[in-house]
Amino acid sequence: MHSMERRDRFLLPRLSSERWQELQSFHLKDGDVFIAGFPKSGTTWMQQIVKLLRSGGDVRLDRAIPWLEVLDSDFGKRLGFTPDMATSSDIISPRAFKTHFPYELVPGGLPHTTPAKYIYVMRNPKDVCVSYWHHRNFIGTYAWDEHFSEFVSIGAKWGGWFYHILGWWKHRDSPNILYIKYKDLKTDPLTAISTIAQFIGIQNMTDELLQNTLQKSSFSSMKADLSCNNSWLFRSGLLFEKAGSGEFIRNGEVGSWRDQFSEEQSKVFDDLFANKMSGSGVML
Ligand code: A3P
Repeated sequence: MHSMERRDRFLLPRLSSERWQELQSFHLKDGDVFIAGFPKSGTTWMQQIVKLLRSGGDVRLDRAIPWLEVLDSDFGKRLGFTPDMATSSDIISPRAFKTHFPYELVPGGLPHTTPAKYIYVMRNPKDVCVSYWHHRNFIGTYAWDEHFSEFVSIGAKWGGWFYHILGWWKHRDSPNILYIKYKDLKTDPLTAISTIAQFIGIQNMTDELLQNTLQKSSFSSMKADLSCNNSWLFRSGLLFEKAGSGEFIRNGEVGSWRDQFSEEQSKVFDDLFANKMSGSGVML
């Protein structure tokens, strides 16, 4: 089993202590934007929206908006990432980065204390759980029940989705943090994109820019777009000896967990959600 597979649920890539230090002291400036979220919540979609709003050109998405914490990890190295991608000329301007880190580990310091802006994407955890299962099966073979039990038991202990959401949710009123729900992006993308544009300070928003962003960030466009569909991930030998046949931009639906969860699993999940989120005010 690949090491990232076992660790990714804790969202912590293997990094040297120097690299941890570097990330914590990463210098952020006015205009920087972070796209954050638990994996499989729609972070790639948000990257594409921010890239288009900032007129990101034809550079591949993961180079225009790098996933900061993995650049110098074992995993990042296998993908050909390097730490200087954070400063390369491919990066869109003003800068944007992606992170899957929990709140307290985000590179550059605690978000509410930095000059950067943060867009946090939140998705129904049942859909996240199913999407994550398909993701894991790009690279291994997991039975659904096995994956479900792990997702739930990690969440029930200390980590996983619940921990991630709660850490960010506590700071939702900070003026430099914007919460966007995947389902709202899906139901009314025009309004969501306008909100994002305003939040990141796009000047002179034109109808043309809005329509272009809407069109090129649609599910069908992104699925067909080599710059953002991550199809290169599935090349045999890159990450794994034998690549799976999955698709990163897979079905992009709200509520398709219903086709996967049994009634009993749904109940187990609802009970855990009620228990973990009680009093937090988190609404899906
Ligand atoms: P599914 O596996 O449910 O299809 P992340 O980028 O955070 O890893 O999230 C990946 C999920 O976002 C996948 O979900 C993917 O299909 C979905 N996604 C990516 N681009 C999308 C788009 N333009 N519209 C809707 N969903 C999108």
